[in-house]
Amino acid sequence: MKIEVCEVNKSFKQQQVLNQISLTIEGGRIFCLLGASGSGKTTLLRIMMGAIPADGGSVTVGGIAVPNRQLLAEMGYMPQNEALYEELSAWENLKFFAGLQRQSRKTFAADAEALLQIVDMAACKNKLIRDCSGGMKKRISLAVALIHKPKLLVLDEPTVGVDPVLRRKIWLYLRQLRNEGTTIVVTTHVMDEVTQCDDAALLRNGHIIARDTVKNLIAQTPDGNIEELFFIDNQSEAEAPLC
Ligand SMILES: Nc1ncnc2c1ncn2[C@@H]1O[C@H](COP(=O)(O)OP(=O)(O)O)[C@@H](O)[C@H]1O
Ligand SMILES: [Mg+2]
Repeated sequence: MKIEVCEVNKSFKQQQVLNQISLTIEGGRIFCLLGASGSGKTTLLRIMMGAIPADGGSVTVGGIAVPNRQLLAEMGYMPQNEALYEELSAWENLKFFAGLQRQSRKTFAADAEALLQIVDMAACKNKLIRDCSGGMKKRISLAVALIHKPKLLVLDEPTVGVDPVLRRKIWLYLRQLRNEGTTIVVTTHVMDEVTQCDDAALLRNGHIIARDTVKNLIAQTPDGNIEELFFIDNQSEAEAPLC
């Protein structure tokens, strides 16, 4: 599902967080939004999904303007701070969200079991969320975002607090989903994760300062370290966006 963001602005009180953001995300790819903490990544994701309105500009997903109720059913969202029910178990949370998304009862058990295996939570599926660690909640939250087999998966810092072995497993799975046609948008400030993605954009001071394939972005840096892109003076900040 192609996403087109056109001249989006967003301010909170006096603070302009997003300044004329224009961005195209191609379908069937893993796109990474990279930026320091507070640079506006979560705000842009939420606008792209139609969860909060922009002050100006527009967003379309698969050619449909957001917000759109039907589109929501096609999207899986893993928020930065998990939105799980603390008094329910991992399994019950999955069941609740599957019901909300009107998933078939027949396939639920098999689907949930498979997802819990992937995020390494099958053994603790009956643990209440309030008894889970931060990393465990992240993993359950990822399973919840996937339970209705979304065409567009939006992940806000999905692997913070997840150990390296499981992180690798999750990335392998995300790449498999991408190969099957799922579009994935992910935010991170962990630079090494960017190399797992196909395309990336760098957000700084309310502007997209670079946007390309990850391969090309890395090729632009002196030492192949994507972090350096944040230190390169970029003229695109001053350029008028085209959309
Ligand atoms: N609902 C809100 N009300 C006021 N300020 C907000 C709100 N949401 C985000 N902000 C501010 O907008 C800026 C960008 O936040 P955010 O999008 O969460 O950045 P990131 O996800 O890159 O860390 C921050 O300065 C944050 O404090
Ligand atoms: Mg954020």
